[in-house]
Formats: sequence, C-alpha cells, structure tokens
Amino acid sequence: MDYLQINGGNKLRGSVTISGAKNAALPIIAATILSDKEVALTNLPNVVDIRTLLKLLTMLGGEVDHHETVAKVNNGSITSTKAVYEIVSQMRASILVLGPLLTRFGECEVSLPGGCAIGQRPIDLHLTALEAMGAQIEIKGGYVRAEAPNGLKGAKIIFDKITVGGTENIVMAAAMAKGTTTILNAAKEPEIVQLCEMIADAGVKIEGIGTSELSIEGTDGKPLEFKEVEIIPDRIEAGTYLCAGAISNSTITLDKVNPEHIRSSIDKLESMGCTFDIGKDSVTIHPADELKPVNLITIEYPGFPTDMQAQFMAVAALAKGESLIEERLFENRFMHVSELNRLGADIWLKGSTAAVKGVDLFYAADVMATDLRASSALVLAALVAEGTTNVRRIYHLDRGYDNLEGKLSALGADIVRKKEEA
Ligand code: EPZ
Repeated sequence: MDYLQINGGNKLRGSVTISGAKNAALPIIAATILSDKEVALTNLPNVVDIRTLLKLLTMLGGEVDHHETVAKVNNGSITSTKAVYEIVSQMRASILVLGPLLTRFGECEVSLPGGCAIGQRPIDLHLTALEAMGAQIEIKGGYVRAEAPNGLKGAKIIFDKITVGGTENIVMAAAMAKGTTTILNAAKEPEIVQLCEMIADAGVKIEGIGTSELSIEGTDGKPLEFKEVEIIPDRIEAGTYLCAGAISNSTITLDKVNPEHIRSSIDKLESMGCTFDIGKDSVTIHPADELKPVNLITIEYPGFPTDMQAQFMAVAALAKGESLIEERLFENRFMHVSELNRLGADIWLKGSTAAVKGVDLFYAADVMATDLRASSALVLAALVAEGTTNVRRIYHLDRGYDNLEGKLSALGADIVRKKEEA
C-alpha cells in the first residue's frame, strides 16, 4: 500500500493546471450508455474512479479505448445489464448506470452500494423516482432489480431532498423515456449542468438547465447520438489548491479553472484575509497577512460544498481565533477531525458542528486517510506541519485527485509517494 511522506514548511509558488472534474466525468461516462454509437470524452481526470467506471462499461460489453485524459466509448455492443458488486463496492457512483441501463434496455440489476465512510448514503430517492416513471423495482440478494418492459414514462418527480446522484440518474432515465419528465427540487451543481447540456446537445429538449426545476422530453426509446464532450474543470480540486495557498502562506495560480464554480470557496478565503486575482479561466490566490477564523455551513450548490469542508477545516485550524464549521449534508463527514488533532489541531465536535480553535503550528505525525476529501485535508496540514508527516491509506486520494503529489511537488512542496514495507 502506498503512503505520502511530506516534509512540512516549504513555501509554494507557481501555477497548477486543474484537471477535469471527477464528479462531472462519472455521470457523463454513465450517460454514454444512452447511445449505441461511439462517444468521445476529453479532459478526463487521470484518477482511479474514472478507470473503475470505464471498467464497468467493458464488463457490460461496451468498447472502451482510454488513454489518460481521453476516452472513446461505444456502448453499441452492450450484452449485459448487470452491474456487479465487485465494481459497485469499489465506487458508489456506479449506481449512476441504473437510470441509463433501465431506460435503454428496459431492465437491469445493479448492486446496492451500501454505506461509506461519510455516512449511510441511501439511494431511496433514486428508486422512488424511477418507480414514479413506471419501473418495477425489487431489492434481492444485495441487488436492485429494475424492470420497465414497455419503457419508462415521463412523470412529475419531486425530490424530498436535493440529491446530486438522484437528479443525474433521473435526467438520464428521462432522456429516453416516453413523454416529459419534470424534476422539482433538482440539484443544480455545475456537474449536472454539464450532463444536461450533453444530453440537450444530442437533441433532447431540456428546459430549466441550471435551475431546481428541470423538464426533459424523452425520445421514447430512441438511443442518443452524442457530440464530443470536454469535461469541465474540477471545482473541488481547484478549491483544494486554493486552500494549499492559504495554509502555506503562498501565492499560487490555478490555470484552466472556472472561477464562477469556486465562488463560495473564494468568498470564504477572502473573509479569512486572502486576496485574489481572477481571470477568465485562472485564479491567483495571495495569502492573508494573518488568517482570520471562518464560519461555514455546507449546503448544496451554489452554497459552500461539503466536498471542501475538510480542507477548510485544516486551514481554519491555523487561523487566529475560533471557527465554526457545520456539516449539513452527510451525517458522518468528520473523520478527519481526530487525525487533524493528532497533528496538533484543537477541534471539538458537537453533533454536526465542529468548533475549531486556531493553533500556531502543526507538528508532524503518522496519520491515516479515511475518505477522499479528508485525505486531502491531511495533506494540506502536512504541508505546513513541523517535521515529516506520513499520510497513510492514500488509495482514497488516488480515487479523485489527479497526480496530487506531482502537482504539489511542482509547486515546491517536499512530498514523495512511498510503499509500505510488508
Ligand atoms: C455527490 O454524491 C458527489 N459524488 C459527492 O462527492 C458529494 O459530496 C455529494 O454529491 C454532495 O455534493 C459524485 O458526484 C460522484 P447526494 P451523491 O445524493 O450524489 C442523501 C466526493 O468527495 N440522499 O447529493 O451521492 C444523502 O445521504 C464525493 O467527490 C438520500 O437520503 O450525493 C446525503 O445526505 C463524496 N437518499 C444527501 O442526500 C437518496 O436517495 C445528498 O446526497 C440520495 C441521497
């Protein structure tokens, strides 16, 4: 198993190119199932989750030609509609094949993803919405078995809760359903906007893109023909590098980024004393003279993202004063707290709120990554900790950060990947 060894204290400088967004690429890869022709995807991030979902497509019989950031996918040859536990257990986002498989083939079986390190993460909202569209669903032997022999039908879906994956699954299912589907209380993250645009570019009429009310006119079973899709920049990777600048007191420029998508992170870092130069597709962060504390609540886009909560906690832990960080989306997304405290942070948890008392310095220690974003928070803390920190179990990082140690090294960090001795 690999780990990262980081000698803290180096100042960072220079620029970093932001990769394509993992969470935009995953539903877009799933959406290729809606086509029986070749689809070209560019600017894919070079991360494990992307390879896992592409592998699932090949297991279903699809043809995938994947090299680093580019993939050509042809799902004209799909012979199986069963997404097996072996893959789904590696990556929850595999559930995104449910909507497209069901709407194109009229049946599918997808392993239930189960809980994960950040919470229970049920899929009840996906299933109820598909049932409203006429699907018959049974849960047996750890699998969701769904059928709609005569195809799915347009319906009015009102999500009880805003769900990113649920909205994506239903948008994809609706694209080939009979009639119009309206989704109320839809998620409106940039990743959903790109999925809707991809489907709209294939000739499906979608109204309300980027709003919480979507209306999709399905093709009644006719497969789609997609144009080439260039994946949008990863707003969470971008936010993580902004935090790297803020925590290490460094000026860093992010290239190939959409400043609008990271507005909430920029605003919070501005309130902590950092300043910014914002270009069309670049952002430069200048560090604060002294980091001020911050109060934040995680909420759906365009609010402050839960996927940036852990990284901001690492920065707030070195601010002058007390910050309050409330997690509203996931019930258990605080696994990084005890690991940050091992590095010298002073963080107290009460329910879904963390009280973060700023300290002057972190001290190196061995720490363990628990989920993707928690892991990046530990790396940020290690960049400034006094001494050598080993961040273990970094397979979480490899799922979602493209060449993290390479990009940080190029900025001047002293970070190397090592292998655990057996
Ligand atoms: C997506 O997960 C992202 N994953 C997550 O990123 C992100 O944290 C999350 O959205 C919130 O922004 C991908 O895009 C692949 P949800 P998703 O459905 O779709 C509850 C990362 O680090 N809920 O919007 O699974 C759920 O439990 C990852 O890159 C139900 O109750 O999130 C949660 O409390 C981690 N029933 C809330 O809704 C359902 O049927 C929001 O979840 C579905 C969700």
